[in-house]
Amino acid sequence: MKGIILAGGTGTRLYPITRAVSKQILPLYDKPMVYYPLSVLMLAGIREVLLISTLRDIHLFEELLGAGDWLGMRFEYAVQEKARGLADAFIVGESFIGVDSCALVLGDNVFYGRSFSATLQSASARITRQGGGAIFGYYVKDPTAYGVVEFDADGKALSIEEKPKQPKSHYAVPGLYFYDNEVVSIAKGIQPSERGEIEITAVNNAYLAKGRLLVETLGRGMAWLDTGTYDGLLEAGNFIATIQKRQGMYVSCIEEIAFTNGWISRDALLELAAGYKTEYGEYLRYIALERVHEQDQHVAWSDT
Ligand code: DAU
Repeated sequence: MKGIILAGGTGTRLYPITRAVSKQILPLYDKPMVYYPLSVLMLAGIREVLLISTLRDIHLFEELLGAGDWLGMRFEYAVQEKARGLADAFIVGESFIGVDSCALVLGDNVFYGRSFSATLQSASARITRQGGGAIFGYYVKDPTAYGVVEFDADGKALSIEEKPKQPKSHYAVPGLYFYDNEVVSIAKGIQPSERGEIEITAVNNAYLAKGRLLVETLGRGMAWLDTGTYDGLLEAGNFIATIQKRQGMYVSCIEEIAFTNGWISRDALLELAAGYKTEYGEYLRYIALERVHEQDQHVAWSDT
């Protein structure tokens, strides 16, 4: 399975912060935002990733992430000239995807939670084995800004609507999607919506109509954070800082994941650590030298 990070868009909702720079390069506490969605693909076991951004910003991501060999990965880059919609990722990424299945993660979506790696690996394995699509449902107080999925009494998905004024449930669809190779032809057949975008919700409805879409709900132990507003950005950064300081374990540390996945050696990790004269570098050094594999118990316990 291949992976795409969609990190373009206009960023107007965060002006003036994003007037001169891409939102997905902004810091969330101690790392660039794009580290978080990248870590999601890595936890799913995906080593080949296409990053899509604007002509203005693509070079920033290239400078940040390079060819990927330092993480035991392979990165490609592509430009989306206009924000034509999320489904456009599969059209821009057609030659990168080739004959493979593909996961898409939005460059501004941050996830953290218990057993998330297992959830990702099973979604990826299922699509590789059986085809179809897999998305998630996450309970939020106000889902009107998202794709919203309606379930029947048995938990089977009935419909998905994009930004409904009267949502049929509280389950928002996060920006993380797994599809078989048919997604490319499905995306090409989608007509622009009223807001002029080719919607990912239309892709999901195409899979749903064929009975080929799995919608798995993410439970209460999962955090799916909003980075779309000033407050969302600040709160997400504070959340990451709180967890990291309390547990001493980093959220979405891509070098750590590469090491844990066996994609880079201990020596390579030590070399990366030596390149950062910061707490981040110290953490990498700690992981390389002292790490005991005890985690995946991501339950928040706060000391008041
Ligand atoms: O975050 C999850 C939601 O993302 C889903 O629940 C919705 O179904 C989905 O449509 C999407 O909704 P948004 O309105 O939040 O999408 P937005 O236009 O903000 O784009 C999401 C990210 O993708 C954003 O960082 C910009 C980037 N983007 C967006 C478009 C439309 C691109 O890179 N290219 C694009 O063409």
